[in-house]
Amino acid sequence: MYYKKMCGEKIYLSPLNIEDYELYTKWINDSSVAKNINQLHNITTEDNEKKWIERAYQNYRYQFAIVEEKKNIPLGICGLELINNISKRYHIVCFIGDDDNRNKGYGTEAIKLTLKFAFEVLNAHTVFSTIYEFNEASLAVTKKLGFKNVGKFRESIYQNLKYYDEVIIEMTKNDYINFLKEQKND
Ligand SMILES: CC(C)(COP(=O)(O)OP(=O)(O)OC[C@H]1O[C@@H](n2cnc3c(N)ncnc32)[C@H](O)[C@@H]1OP(=O)(O)O)[C@@H](O)C(=O)NCCC(=O)NCCS
Repeated sequence: MYYKKMCGEKIYLSPLNIEDYELYTKWINDSSVAKNINQLHNITTEDNEKKWIERAYQNYRYQFAIVEEKKNIPLGICGLELINNISKRYHIVCFIGDDDNRNKGYGTEAIKLTLKFAFEVLNAHTVFSTIYEFNEASLAVTKKLGFKNVGKFRESIYQNLKYYDEVIIEMTKNDYINFLKEQKND
């Protein structure tokens, strides 16, 4: 069962559904997801995944199922993790599980709703993530949503006999407020 915790137009964010552990196991073992979220080396079993869902809300972590609005179909996962409680700094993650569902605007909406939850509900001060340099879709979406590119970790990701940089992206509460204002003026 899914619940409308944060509502968008094409999707909504729901608490995770424990019954989706098989689907999540499939997604996380799929290299099109794994190569972008540092999971290629992990051999994730259904048992591991069930345990991950059970622990998904511990230690100030907020995970959501991204669910298609009309058909109530799970599309992916997005979430936040509190990194520093004093400065209210959160790490954001997001993926759309099946390639067929990418480039349809779902990821953009999911990240937008996750940012709304971060800044308007959790009172986050900064939200950040890192994106592998080859992940052009993720770089495009986060740029469009007003994240600032604030640097990179050099040669920090090893895949396919090569090292890649990790781009650091960040949004402050002021960036978020400015982004909302710009959207209103459009
Ligand atoms: C990154 C991801 C979450 C984006 O979700 P999505 O639903 O595909 O994103 P959207 O459809 O909302 O937007 C995709 C945007 O990227 C752009 N894009 C896609 N591929 C691109 C490429 N190769 N080069 C440049 N831009 C690209 C699209 O044009 C679109 O921009 P537009 O809306 O301005 O046209 C999704 O692709 C994904 O899950 N990828 C695999 C896992 C992953 O990378 N997670 C993020 C880790 S940091």
